[in-house]
Amino acid sequence: MGLQFDKLATEPKLKVLVFGASLRADSLNRRLAALAARVAERSGATVDHAQMRDFDVPSFDGDAEKESDIPRGAEELRRRLTESDAFIVSSPEYNASMPGLLKNVIDWASRFRPQPFDGKHGLLISASPSMVGGNRGLWSLRVPFEHLGARIYPDMFSLAQAHKALVGERIADDDLQARFETNVQAFLSLAEAAKHYPCMKRAWVEFLGEPPGSVADRIDPAPV
Ligand SMILES: Cc1cc2nc3c(=O)[nH]c(=O)nc-3n(C[C@H](O)[C@H](O)[C@H](O)COP(=O)(O)O)c2cc1C
Repeated sequence: MGLQFDKLATEPKLKVLVFGASLRADSLNRRLAALAARVAERSGATVDHAQMRDFDVPSFDGDAEKESDIPRGAEELRRRLTESDAFIVSSPEYNASMPGLLKNVIDWASRFRPQPFDGKHGLLISASPSMVGGNRGLWSLRVPFEHLGARIYPDMFSLAQAHKALVGERIADDDLQARFETNVQAFLSLAEAAKHYPCMKRAWVEFLGEPPGSVADRIDPAPV
């Protein structure tokens, strides 16, 4: 018998930020993100539907950071992450890695304190016309997210030949659609459990082995 997932049962509802990390109007990743959002809503979560354009920022520049505030797009990502319990990002793969625009806004948003990715549960998904479905990009994306303390779900869904596999508002193959839904729901179950029973309480320390108190020592204290 396969795994069965009940609807998320408890109040307040789990809130999930969902976006596709592409600016393209016909983006396959935007469509896959919309599909994940529908599964989340059907499972009882509240979804904040975002667009990559909401998080548009100039290239990271340490001088600009000193002279002016962190750009509005990064502030928007910080705000919406902070207001959410979890996030789902559908990311294209560019040259076997993550898109530069996504890494750039992660870098900007990582400059806020408290650092907004710390402790957030994240699900990574991807869509690509290729046979790997963009999965190599997701492995690269795990690195900055996990470095920043996000809890990235072990299973990552990558839709191969996505230009053919996505038909209308679903994955045409019923078995693959079911596998996708199971992946999203299993992630939501874990995020919901963590929301109500926060077991891992630890400080975020950027470089654990640095001498405490040095200029490079960046710490967010553990939640009480
Ligand atoms: C600069 C660039 C590099 C790309 N590199 C890869 C790649 O390494 N692997 C892959 O599967 N697709 C690659 N692609 C194709 C993208 O997967 C494809 O354009 C996809 O539709 C982009 O996502 P989107 O539809 O959400 O915009 C690349 C596309 C561009 C523009």
